[in-house]
Amino acid sequence: MKVVISLGGIFFEDAESIKKVAEVLEALAKSYKLYIVTGGGETARECIKIARNLGANEATCDYIGIDLTRVNAKLLIAALKDAVYPEPFYDYKEVAEAKGEKENVKIAVMGGVSPGYTTDAVAAILAEYVNANLLIDVTSVDGVYDADPRIYPDARKYDKLTAKELVAITAKEELKAGSRIVIDPVAAKVIERSGIKTIVINGSNPRNILDAVHGKHRGTEIR
Ligand code: UTP
Repeated sequence: MKVVISLGGIFFEDAESIKKVAEVLEALAKSYKLYIVTGGGETARECIKIARNLGANEATCDYIGIDLTRVNAKLLIAALKDAVYPEPFYDYKEVAEAKGEKENVKIAVMGGVSPGYTTDAVAAILAEYVNANLLIDVTSVDGVYDADPRIYPDARKYDKLTAKELVAITAKEELKAGSRIVIDPVAAKVIERSGIKTIVINGSNPRNILDAVHGKHRGTEIR
């Protein structure tokens, strides 16, 4: 079974958090073919803000975000040591070629790819390209809500959504560099067209990732 996991940048802020996530991924890699996509988090948002204040256009800001997602990919690789390919992949085809159809291959890690979307979309495209069985989006909130729960405490979480509903919910999101969105609209469209089973979960406790792969979660399921 092939599993693609999109890890938000929040999980790369200190060595302890990275180690905890790495332990879970190593355990999963014993039974599943794993593909990990790393987000840029606050560091990316701060650098994008500085670049924007300097007059950089959105594409330039996106490239800065991409660089930071790749730094986080390298941090995760440092924690995963021998369980992983030694460098982040920059392209979907490179990943597919490296992993091939062999059993027990190393974990593949990559950050961003090109401007105009976030690593959620990278994970969705990768999942589609390698024909993954499952896409897990690991965030710092409990799933997809009807409003940002960090701003609106009475926002309502969806337990289940169709891909079409996800597309409608995300369509109103702004896609500027460094936007704070749970799933970006490009990712939603790719999830819709590929029909890949997707789960959005809170990764504050990394064991939630293990549970989600095994079918137990309290997040949002998109079918
Ligand atoms: P993230 O993937 O980290 O954004 O990319 P996010 O998902 O909103 O944030 P977290 O990490 O889950 O908190 C950071 C920024 O990098 C650029 C975008 O500007 C994005 O907002 N980016 C990233 C791209 O332009 N293309 C990519 O393929 C990836």
